Parts: sequence; structure tokens; C-alpha cells
Amino acid sequence: MKTLTITRPDDWHVHVRNGTILKAVLPHTARQFARAIIMPNLKPPVTTVDQALAYRDEILAAVPMDVDFTPLMTLYLTATTTAAEIKNAAASEHIHAFKLYPAGATTHSDLGVADIVAAYPLFAAMEKYQIPLLIHGEVTDADCDIFDRERMFIERYLIDIIKQFPKLRVVFEHVTTQEAVQFVESASTNVAATITPQHLLYNRNALFVGGIRPHHYCLPVLKREQHRLALVKAATSGNPKFFLGTDSAPHTTETKENTCGCAGCFSAAIALELYAEAFEAANALDKLEGFASFYGADFYRLPRNSGTITLENTSWDMPSSYGENGISITPLKANETIHWKVKWSNQTEHL
Ligand code: DOR
Ligand code: ZN
Repeated sequence: MKTLTITRPDDWHVHVRNGTILKAVLPHTARQFARAIIMPNLKPPVTTVDQALAYRDEILAAVPMDVDFTPLMTLYLTATTTAAEIKNAAASEHIHAFKLYPAGATTHSDLGVADIVAAYPLFAAMEKYQIPLLIHGEVTDADCDIFDRERMFIERYLIDIIKQFPKLRVVFEHVTTQEAVQFVESASTNVAATITPQHLLYNRNALFVGGIRPHHYCLPVLKREQHRLALVKAATSGNPKFFLGTDSAPHTTETKENTCGCAGCFSAAIALELYAEAFEAANALDKLEGFASFYGADFYRLPRNSGTITLENTSWDMPSSYGENGISITPLKANETIHWKVKWSNQTEHL
């Protein structure tokens, strides 16, 4: 059987929620990844160091006993975030970034930043204290076509942000367009990007194959094939500016299969398998380790992991849903055949 062994990877963008959903989803992330950047868009959002530390404790309590997993916490940037809180966050060993959600851009972003230019003094503080800014890069104007939102965000905001704050470390999260790839490639080494498995595997046709497909709906929304190809090229290029961030975003099955279905794909249960599929299709499995296990750690100035994880090239059927205690979460590729499988062992220590 064909196998692939790589250094244990990290997920540089994941939503694990809290409460019952957290308990259902966190073990999947913790089994595959040594560490993960935890998104702060809870309801209410995680806006202070104290809240992030309490959330971290809740996450640690959900980690299976036989697994070694470190949550890397982030804070949700609001109009009322202070420079003092940014200094505090930068001084905490457990807080690794701030997340900028333009108000109204996505799930639980209503308390995000409505006036991005007004947040410049906060970007200055992040630049000064060297804590990364993670950006959901989409404009929110109702008259902007949904497929143009990311491109418009670059033109309207990102170009100026990196010009004004050249030493600010920025991660352009879940990039979905060739314009975003080009922007990141041409920016300084302080600018990087995460790429999700769904944006590597699907184009926007996947939203409407034989009917509407709510489990393929996420934000930023899937784009045209030419953009998917640009993302695959970037992810498999060996350029350290592009690294793994699943954006696994669990919602219950009934809130996805709904007249107003939530945005988000739950991929945590097969994240690495999906990336392996995408890299294999591009004939670039040899580039997976850098993308999944090295470049993110380097960008965040953290040590690379020391354990390994092995994937087997074998076919198996994805369950229709995950969850217990009355919760059902439909994963990406539910009921489909998967061609890679993580052979999990508990000898995956990391530094
Ligand atoms: O599809 C998405 N779901 N995109 C996001 O930016 C947020 C996420 C969520 O939290 O559900
Ligand atoms: Zn996200």
C-alpha cells in the first residue's frame, strides 16, 4: 500500500466553537494536528486575553486523553479593542494573533470592524508589538457582487494596510482568487495566506450540482475554476507564504440544510486526507509537508513539530454525519469515498 509520512502538521485556521459542538469536533482536529489557530468568532466573541484563556481551558478539557494538542488562541478585533489589550495579548504566551472580521462579512461578524481605516491605530499597535493580524478579506457592501468581494477588499483596503504598516505581519485568510494569490506573492515576507481544502478541490459549480449543495457553501464562496487552479498552483509551489488553514467551520446539519443555511464546511475529520487528494491530483505530494507542517510554524515564529503522521492510500466511505447527544454535523464529502486515510498513532509528540 502506498503511504505518505510527514512531520505532524498544524491547522492555522479553524473554528471549534464551544459547548456541545466543541466536544464533538475538537477531537478530530486534535488527532490530526499538533496545534491550531483557534478562531474567536464565538457568540459573544472572544475579545480579551482573559476570555481567550478561559476558552483555551474549555478547549483543553475537550482534548482526548491520549492526544497531545496545543490550541493557539486569537482575539476578535472590535472598534473598542484598545492598544493596551493588544500589548497584553502580545505578551501572553497563549495568544498568537488578532482576527479582523469586516462587520457583516460572515458568521458572527456583526461585532467586527465597520470602519477599517478607523482601526489603523490598532494595526500600528500590532505592528509595534509584533502580533499578527489575520484578515477575513471581503468587502461587505450589498451592491458588491459576492464573487468580487475578495478582489475588492485587496484594492480598497489591503494594499493600503500593508503600505502604511510594512512591518505588520498579516495573514490573508482562506484566499480564494488568483488576485489574492498574486497580491500575496508580490508582497513582503510579512504577508502570508492560508488555503482551505474546499477551495483547492472545488469550484463554484460544486454549489449547484444537481441541486443546491449547502455543505459546499462557505465564505468566501467558492470561485471559478481559473481561481481554483491558481490556488492549487500556489499551495503546491513550495512558496512558504502559503500554508494550511482548513477553516473547518462546523454548523449543525439542520442549520446548514435550511432556508437560510449557514456558511461553513466541516472538514476537520478528513482535513489532511483532503489536502493529500488535492496535492496528489497536482502531482505534488512531495510539497505537502512544507505546506502542512513547516511554513505556518515559521511564519508564526514557533518551532516546527517533531512527531510524524502517516497517510495510507486506501479507499473508505465517509460517514453521513458526526456528533452525539442529539447533535448532527454533516462533513464535507459525506457518504463519498475517500482515497487517503490518516493512520493515527499516539506517538506524535511535538516540541
Ligand atoms: O464559511 C465560513 N464560516 N466562513 C467564515 O468566515 C466563518 C465561518 C464560520 O464561523 O462559520
Ligand atoms: Zn474562518
